[in-house]
Amino acid sequence: MNKLTLAPTSKMNSPDFIFGVATAAFQIEGAANTRLPNIWDTFCSIKGNISDGSNGDIACDHVNLWQQDLALIASLGVDAYRLSIAWPRVMTKEGTLNQAGVDFYIRLLDQLKTYNIKAFVTLYHWDLPQYLEDQGGWLNRNTAYEFAHYADLISQAFGERVYAYATLNEPFCSAYLGYEAGIHAPGLKGKQYGKKAAHHLLLGHGLAMLALQKNSPKSQNGIVLNFTPAYPASDSKADINAARYADDYFNQWYIKPIFNGCYPDLINTLPKEQQPDILPGDMTIISQKLDYIGVNYYTRAVYQADATHIFKELPPQAPKTDIGWQIYPQAFSQLLTHLHQTYPLPPMYITENGAAMADKLEHGHVHDQNRIDYYQSHLDAVNDAIDIGVDIRGYFAWSLMDNFEWAEGYSKRFGIVYVDYQTQQRTIKASGLAYRNLILQRNQDK
Ligand code: NOJ
Repeated sequence: MNKLTLAPTSKMNSPDFIFGVATAAFQIEGAANTRLPNIWDTFCSIKGNISDGSNGDIACDHVNLWQQDLALIASLGVDAYRLSIAWPRVMTKEGTLNQAGVDFYIRLLDQLKTYNIKAFVTLYHWDLPQYLEDQGGWLNRNTAYEFAHYADLISQAFGERVYAYATLNEPFCSAYLGYEAGIHAPGLKGKQYGKKAAHHLLLGHGLAMLALQKNSPKSQNGIVLNFTPAYPASDSKADINAARYADDYFNQWYIKPIFNGCYPDLINTLPKEQQPDILPGDMTIISQKLDYIGVNYYTRAVYQADATHIFKELPPQAPKTDIGWQIYPQAFSQLLTHLHQTYPLPPMYITENGAAMADKLEHGHVHDQNRIDYYQSHLDAVNDAIDIGVDIRGYFAWSLMDNFEWAEGYSKRFGIVYVDYQTQQRTIKASGLAYRNLILQRNQDK
């Protein structure tokens, strides 16, 4: 069996370092008919939006199979499980809790406790209730207050069951992919939308933080951001500036307001109609003190100067994963170090890292050596960042199991557990066994 290893001296060998696996509600739950419709249900129903024409109606049928899935998670020996709560499952249109939905998560959280697995709960992993989109979604400032209201009620209902809350997962994806590029739900296209949506998402984050601090002061409360580090195609001044611009537009836009209380300077160069509507006091709400920052990393991007669009992203170079993203672990350690040097960061968790590979189930086994290699090089990158002094407290593999990969449907497999969607059978891949072994090894060293 191919192993994942850590240097004996690595801080990741410490018994306090948390190893986990991650999922998100819409990607695994199914049972869509037992909750309110959300923007992804609508987006999936429009032909051409999802590459394999699929949707989240059944997904991994996790709502029915959750007990066996939790036993599977426990069998991997992980310290933590990162899941998201489906807002449309726990809230009604009237703004009250839907007790049946809340009970589902309470049972799940209680079961995690019996396994001694810490719950990392994300409140928003992209599944906005459709009735709120019908009122403008994240372009409507009121959605930020609706989100805070949901965060308030659900955190009261969960009591002390949650180890760590994340308000939002990857607001860049919700804002840019959903409201500017139009390749994620709700599928709006236009530069006049993206930054407005981003501002309301971040406002919602700040308001939700206030609710979490009030209702759940003992949990770790923070946010999960994704980064795709921007590299210039050449040493030319023009390419360097292009990469810097793209970095501010895609990455810094979401972290700078949180730690510096302002957007990157490029905000002043945007035409008025592309600028967010910032009211007095907003930036103070957004820059609430966090207990931790969650970082998701998969790949980097390379940019060239472009006369009409300022920057142009070049096609990713090999080696690539099955989703076409370049495998480039150097950017991971550079990113973590750079964030640490740039912002007054709280402790950090790597809340997602992983790879889509074209897995085959053969005689009951999946030999995903390529994924093991990806994990090894990226764990090494995390280790390098820790050695440089970045305060990283944990690492989550994306994902526990194959699931609905958004616009790619079920065609891309990110799991360390294989899912046969015909039978809903789960099979731990070689990468899952290697991950289990890594954690086991660490526990033996305790
Ligand atoms: C980020 C998202 O949080 C997750 O939902 C997605 O499946 C992975 N990246 C892979 O694209």
